[in-house]
Amino acid sequence: MEKKDIDWSNLGFGYVKTDKRFVSNYKDGSWDEGVLTEDDKVVISECAGVLQYAQTCFEGLKAYTTEDGHIVMFRPDLNAKRLADSAARLEMPVFPEDKFVQAVHDVVKANAAYVPPYGSGATLYVRPYMFGSNAVIGVKPADEYQFRVFTTPVGPYFKGGAKPITIRVSDFDRAAPHGTGHVKAGLNYAMSLHAIVDAHAQGYDENMYLDAATRTKVEETGGANFIFVTKDKKVVTPKSSTILPSITRRSLMYVAEHYLGLEVEEREVYLDEVKDFAECGLCGTAAVISPVGKIVDHGKEICFPSGMEEMGEITKKLYDTLTGIQMGHIEAPEGWIHTVC
Ligand SMILES: Cc1ncc(COP(=O)(O)O)c(C=O)c1O
Repeated sequence: MEKKDIDWSNLGFGYVKTDKRFVSNYKDGSWDEGVLTEDDKVVISECAGVLQYAQTCFEGLKAYTTEDGHIVMFRPDLNAKRLADSAARLEMPVFPEDKFVQAVHDVVKANAAYVPPYGSGATLYVRPYMFGSNAVIGVKPADEYQFRVFTTPVGPYFKGGAKPITIRVSDFDRAAPHGTGHVKAGLNYAMSLHAIVDAHAQGYDENMYLDAATRTKVEETGGANFIFVTKDKKVVTPKSSTILPSITRRSLMYVAEHYLGLEVEEREVYLDEVKDFAECGLCGTAAVISPVGKIVDHGKEICFPSGMEEMGEITKKLYDTLTGIQMGHIEAPEGWIHTVC
């Protein structure tokens, strides 16, 4: 298979149309078999549930080339489960988890020419999503749905090294108690747009959201969970029922405990104690870990001892071990690496 003529190392994070996508429709109570198609256009009613009442949820994962030349994905079964949880919360029919894994596998295989080569730092981003497709004018769930998976090649997350970022404590809330913060609903992201545009306008890279009920506990950012490292090298991550359960964060906590022999703790983390941590990172599929050097809380600066030049010691070990597992340099736990071809 010949790769496409793409300047992999200069790709950004944008949409590039690839050859094939998967489409399955839900009608009269069941999903059809689905097809791989070249048609990248969606034609739905002007009154579709997704357009009127935002009935949509999605996932995001990456396919990449390992050192020995295989195309693999990282834990796609967990994305399948999370999409099922999101769909159930939004009164959408669940797309069967085994069929989800097969669909992402088939789409990646069909677009193998777009999977960046080993060493380029670039990856093929995979976007499964579903939405209510039939006309709905009263506020209620749609009766018909479409599930789609497309791919797009994306560039290396860290161009020229992983520089620590500066974030601010946000005055906006991301998720209400008992709301939809724990699922990947499109509506969570629509309402975060103003907060991120405002953060960027004020010179910050990201927002740290606090729990909406008491505004005393750390939740997450708009697209990543937090991990902190204590001065005695314990890895701590916020426990909350209103954050998205990041697959990267769950994997890093496993790596910390079982590969690096570190003590780990998932517990409520108060904003007041953040100043006492030695390191801070944001974890998600895109960056694996993005180091945080500084948090600004209404003019008060919290500067981590790891500084503004490089990742902290433990953050770096976590990053190197997880990316080593993903790239096939370090043996993966059973079931973590899904080989496409
Ligand atoms: C709100 C939010 N939190 C956390 C994450 C990180 O999750 P994952 O590690 O599964 O990519 C994401 C990205 O999907 C996200 O959108």
